[in-house]
Amino acid sequence: MKLSSFIYFAKFGLNTILLKKKTPILGTIILTDKCNLSCKHCSVNNITGIIHPYDQIQSEMKQLYEMGVRILFFCGGETFMWNDKGKALRDLVIEAKKMGFLIVNTVTNGTFELDLPEADLILLSLDGNKEKHNEIRGDTYDLIMRNINNATSDNICFYMAVNKINKETIKDVCMIAKEMKNVRAVSFNFHTPYPETEELKLSQIEKQECCNVIIKMMRYGAPVFNLKSAFPYLVSNNFPTPCYQCVVIENGKISTCGRCMDIPGLCEKCGYFFVAEYTLLFNGNVKIMAEMLKTYMKYI
Ligand SMILES: C[S@@+](CC[C@H](N)C(=O)[O-])C[C@H]1O[C@@H](n2cnc3c(N)ncnc32)[C@H](O)[C@@H]1O
Ligand code: SF4
Ligand code: SF4
Repeated sequence: MKLSSFIYFAKFGLNTILLKKKTPILGTIILTDKCNLSCKHCSVNNITGIIHPYDQIQSEMKQLYEMGVRILFFCGGETFMWNDKGKALRDLVIEAKKMGFLIVNTVTNGTFELDLPEADLILLSLDGNKEKHNEIRGDTYDLIMRNINNATSDNICFYMAVNKINKETIKDVCMIAKEMKNVRAVSFNFHTPYPETEELKLSQIEKQECCNVIIKMMRYGAPVFNLKSAFPYLVSNNFPTPCYQCVVIENGKISTCGRCMDIPGLCEKCGYFFVAEYTLLFNGNVKIMAEMLKTYMKYI
């Protein structure tokens, strides 16, 4: 991360903590809900099948920038399926950087060619070893591995949503992240039980066991892009929600924190690590601050 970006984020953090401000810093734009997969744990794919037009995405980027957002995520649906007016995801990333976003990331299922060197991180969903990943995401594991090996940059960070199906395979994903060329890190979430996927939710004991494995893998040198100081809060689901510093925009509609804000009772069961990490940070948790500084400097 550039020193100037670090100074910007440090100032934002101090202002937020001391003045208890609720302005956002992290924004996500949903490019489309269209997707070539139909994963068992996912509730957001192919609801409308609409690819949002380039002009709309461009004005959403401007809107987020004006609101103060400097960390931008592109998400979906499948982000690499987005194209409009001859423009593709890579053009959006380049434009976002030019616009002044300090960190620009995208989230992908990894089934398309990975040629996105301008992104700070490509969060690539890998949901376990070959057997469990394919059970959740269809027969895609080998294709993803080929795409990672052929990627044009080393900015890939695995993104694993841990659930009842794949909870025993955290170690496998850590090992692949440690060994595989082009993969910089791995970041975890626990399954968030949207209606109709409740059966995949982990119990508190299972979450604790998962965190124990992640900590063990961190000690072993696996590149985990999460903060272990947040683990106890994630296990007990007692971190503050929602995250006021995060916003998501989908087809012109802005929501605080996630697209899931309107689902009754979901926030108390939230499994998204970034929510715990950001809300604890902006509530002035000193351990989180120190760990975040170290972790972000290492992987971005
Ligand atoms: C909705 S997908 C969109 C991007 C891309 N299609 C992909 O799969 O990475 C974004 C991320 O959300 C995760 N996800 C989907 N449903 C989830 C849930 N119920 N709880 C936690 N993570 C979930 C996916 O595994 C993926 O890593
Ligand atoms: S690839 Fe992503 S958007 Fe598509 S179904 Fe799977 S998790 Fe959902
Ligand atoms: S805290 Fe609530 S709105 Fe935010 S990501 Fe979690 S479930 Fe969604």
